[in-house]
Amino acid sequence: MDVDRAPPWTVVLGDADRTRAFGACLGRVAPGGLAVALVGGLGAGKTCFAQGVGAALRVEGPVVSPTFVLVAEHQGTLPLLHADLYRLEPGELGAIGLEETLESWPGVALVEWADRFPEVLPADHLSVGLRARGGSREAQVHATGPRSAAVSAAWRRAWEARDAAPGSPPPAGGEAPR
Ligand SMILES: Nc1ncnc2c1ncn2[C@@H]1O[C@H](COP(=O)(O)OP(=O)(O)O)[C@@H](O)[C@H]1O
Ligand SMILES: [Mg+2]
Repeated sequence: MDVDRAPPWTVVLGDADRTRAFGACLGRVAPGGLAVALVGGLGAGKTCFAQGVGAALRVEGPVVSPTFVLVAEHQGTLPLLHADLYRLEPGELGAIGLEETLESWPGVALVEWADRFPEVLPADHLSVGLRARGGSREAQVHATGPRSAAVSAAWRRAWEARDAAPGSPPPAGGEAPR
């Protein structure tokens, strides 16, 4: 799919559960090999979003902030890589080998603070920006290539279908484990 056919889109997330649900919705449509930049200041909700993705992928172990470990790997229906580059110094990137890991990562990769090291992600990736909006959060999604554009469109459809009927059962496959 052409990136032009999956324009950036924005949603408002009223509370932390909603942020997790938004991540879970991506987790249900995410194909292996998807890389996602999580962009936003401290406390924006990046780790909360990652927890939702992890829940949808049924990962083992808690998805916690990897600020001190930098990169955490979880087994799930797809392997989940969760990195946080907040404390990484320029020049240390090569030492952790993240770029090479991401090139061949078979599952879903989430990278908090990816904007600090734009070169680390594959050219075609999904970007999720989170920022405070009052007591809520606003998320902006954009795709940078054809593969991520297809995921962006599928995610948006799934999210809007869920939103269209709050409280009613999700569409077929919506809430089911992968
Ligand atoms: N949509 C939201 N509305 C209000 N608070 C939220 C929302 N999403 C997440 N939070 C809260 O924001 C705080 C920081 O979240 P966290 O995911 O740790 O941020 P980050 O990883 O971006 O630093 C947590 O207390 C979380 O519960
Ligand atoms: Mg975090």
